[in-house]
Amino acid sequence: MTRLLHTTLICALVGSTFGALFTDPSQIKNTTYDFIVVGAGTAGNVIAARLSENPSVSVLVVEAGVSNTGFKAENLMIPLFAPLASVNSPFDWNYTTVPQKALNNQILPYSRGYVLGGSSSTNFITWTRGSRDDFDRFAKVVGDTSYTWNNLFPYFKKSEKWVHPVDGRNDTQEYNPTVHGTTGPVLVSTSGNVSIIDSRVLQTTQQLSAEFPFNLDVNSGNPLGVGWLPSAAGGGIRSSSATAYLMPALNARKNLDVLIHTRATKLVQTGTANGLPQFRNVEVGQLGSSTRVTFQARKEIVLSAGAIGSPQILMLSGIGNGPSLVKVGIKPIVSLPEVGQNLQDHPIVGLQYVVPDDANTIDPITLGTDPNALNVALAQWTANRTGVLSSTGGNHIGFFRVPSNSSLLKNGDPSGGPTSAHFELAWQDEFASVSQTPPASGRYVSNIQVLNSPTSRGSVTLNSSDPFANPIIDPNFLSTDWDLGVMVYAIRSALRFIKAQAWSGFVLGPFVDSAALFADNATDADIITYIRKWTQSIKHPMCTAPANGASGKGVVDANLLVKNLNGVRIVDGSVFPFLPSAHPQAAIYGIAEMTSDKIKKVYGI
Ligand SMILES: Cc1cc2nc3c(=O)[nH]c(=O)nc-3n(C[C@H](O)[C@H](O)[C@H](O)COP(=O)(O)OP(=O)(O)OC[C@H]3O[C@@H](n4cnc5c(N)ncnc54)[C@H](O)[C@@H]3O)c2cc1C
Ligand SMILES: *[C@@H]1O[C@H](CO)[C@@H](O)[C@H](O)[C@H]1NC(C)=O
Ligand SMILES: *[C@@H]1O[C@H](CO)[C@@H](O)[C@H](O)[C@H]1NC(C)=O
Ligand SMILES: *[C@@H]1O[C@H](CO)[C@@H](O)[C@H](O)[C@H]1NC(C)=O
Ligand SMILES: *[C@@H]1O[C@H](CO)[C@@H](O)[C@H](O)[C@H]1NC(C)=O
Ligand SMILES: *[C@@H]1O[C@H](CO)[C@@H](O)[C@H](O)[C@H]1NC(C)=O
Ligand SMILES: *[C@@H]1O[C@H](CO)[C@@H](O)[C@H](O)[C@H]1NC(C)=O
Ligand SMILES: *[C@@H]1O[C@H](CO)[C@@H](O)[C@H](O)[C@H]1NC(C)=O
Ligand SMILES: *[C@@H]1O[C@H](CO)[C@@H](O)[C@H](O)[C@H]1NC(C)=O
Repeated sequence: MTRLLHTTLICALVGSTFGALFTDPSQIKNTTYDFIVVGAGTAGNVIAARLSENPSVSVLVVEAGVSNTGFKAENLMIPLFAPLASVNSPFDWNYTTVPQKALNNQILPYSRGYVLGGSSSTNFITWTRGSRDDFDRFAKVVGDTSYTWNNLFPYFKKSEKWVHPVDGRNDTQEYNPTVHGTTGPVLVSTSGNVSIIDSRVLQTTQQLSAEFPFNLDVNSGNPLGVGWLPSAAGGGIRSSSATAYLMPALNARKNLDVLIHTRATKLVQTGTANGLPQFRNVEVGQLGSSTRVTFQARKEIVLSAGAIGSPQILMLSGIGNGPSLVKVGIKPIVSLPEVGQNLQDHPIVGLQYVVPDDANTIDPITLGTDPNALNVALAQWTANRTGVLSSTGGNHIGFFRVPSNSSLLKNGDPSGGPTSAHFELAWQDEFASVSQTPPASGRYVSNIQVLNSPTSRGSVTLNSSDPFANPIIDPNFLSTDWDLGVMVYAIRSALRFIKAQAWSGFVLGPFVDSAALFADNATDADIITYIRKWTQSIKHPMCTAPANGASGKGVVDANLLVKNLNGVRIVDGSVFPFLPSAHPQAAIYGIAEMTSDKIKKVYGI
């Protein structure tokens, strides 16, 4: 994907009018709002849009990043262009990790969305909820049944509107309508363009049905098996929390203000309430400016700055581990030692296989080997949003567990339970990799391996008291025997898949990097060498301000209110105690919908 040509095609695509969208804090006359939402990301926009449904409630959203309709906006809209919207694009924070010990001390890029919609504007649009057991475990840890699968299910549906693929295909065999919403804001569909490998993937589910059974819908609560991959897209265009929630609200309502290009630099204590420090003020500033402006929340502050931003802001505000704060020159106010700890993320590694030169893969576009192919595809997408650009290059996904007699499980099962995946495989009709240098020519198919139930735990800590300095991010990837062992198992499983009859005569052999693995006599050591060399993050950092029902544990309580203080709630990926065993955006939308209702109930709004 890295060689994709940049295109500037904004023209007819954008140009919507905004309500109260501000680009500088000095433009805003109001200093007090009922709610201040920090971060116009995936969760933050759900909260802002739902709370502002009541015209008597005023909401300010503060977003560090840029507009989603400006420069290079087409990269946020075209499904196949998603990789152009992340690292080193105008829409990314461009974080990096500290050297990863288990990955030969590599420093990894660590994308996060820096734009209205947050990471939902820049992610790869995969739409998976996780399993029934993931959420039942969440409910148990938090001691609140609102997080069970059954109780979240209506909120998963509320967030989405299933739409049929843009190519007009009959998708009856691709999803189960009873588990999807039909009236929600986020458009969800299976791929806009079928690919030449889809039928081979489906044949493999028949030929090797014991290991790779077909699953009609991976979003039913039981994701195990191989199914069609739903994406957050409709009509051939990405659907983000900006397009689905924020913009429609902003364009229609007077009680919602949005401030972009502006960071929350800290939350400020405004006294005490019920014997606890109260935080009702949000201090904001713009890069390069020494001016700080303070806004007040009458009811509460909702922190939705994501798994990196939310703990960073708490720590900048004196909320966290006292001694660590003192070390960077911040006065501790509230002791919550788990702030920024418990970072969990999904590692990913790819494998590629060589296919015949006349195979109609999408490589000419994604490897940039045929500029004309891109121009033709772009013209088609511009005309009516169809064709290869309306797909993500991968139309199926599979979730799996290691066998129950595997020695990896000798110390117990670290996943949420029997419906939760240990690992994931997905297939693409192109050379796809998060780490390898793309070849200059050729035709490929690829599959990815993702570890869904990791036991490694990392952290986000402050490097400086400067709110404009990046925090220290350590996902601590593959630091446990379980994590490494499941990755090895996943690679062996992927190789069994691609060696099925369905691929015979089509897959000619491995790409050069994985030659040693492809051999039937490949050892675990060969596989581990490969994993250490090519693994990166799939960019699902979460759990850095975890909810916990027990007093003295976690960072937020069952209602996602920050413990040991008054006035601040966190709603984003950081509050999950465990990662969902899937791509997390659908789960984050669901939790944000559920919490919006909780907040409305608390204030009778
Ligand atoms: C490249 C990439 C690919 C991904 N692919 C997928 C996928 O295919 N499917 C999937 O389900 N998930 C995917 N994910 C993960 C998923 O997108 C995220 O987990 C999810 O969107 C996070 O939601 P959030 O609300 O926690 O945070 P975000 O959506 O990241 O929102 C946080 C917001 O807060 C803002 N912010 C941060 N700090 C401050 C501050 N100090 N002041 C003001 N604003 C601030 C940020 O700019 C951002 O807009 C991907 C992520 C990335 C980055
Ligand atoms: C990330 O890098 C890109 C490309 O240099 C830049 O446009 C963008 O502003 C950077 N993001 C941040 C938060 O600085
Ligand atoms: C789609 O296919 C199903 C069978 O798979 C069929 O029952 C249904 O009528 C078809 N729908 C349309 C609109 O053609
Ligand atoms: C800001 O204040 C003005 C004047 O009091 C008011 O009309 C407007 O609705 C306020 N905006 C919000 C979002 O509260
Ligand atoms: C979309 O546009 C392309 C190229 O302009 C054309 O070939 C195709 O038939 C159109 N498809 C639809 C559904 O209109
Ligand atoms: C997928 O896109 C290609 C390229 O535009 C086109 O040839 C093919 O017909 C499309 N498939 C469907 C089912 O529309
Ligand atoms: C687990 O069970 C399967 C099927 O019964 C068997 O083939 C395999 O050898 C067993 N593996 C171990 C590690 O016992
Ligand atoms: C932390 O700050 C120091 C001093 O400014 C800098 O050299 C280092 O690169 C920073 N570390 C990270 C992870 O950003
Ligand atoms: C695997 O088999 C190949 C020949 O098929 C041989 O060259 C290689 O040395 C073997 N590797 C191991 C680790 O046994």
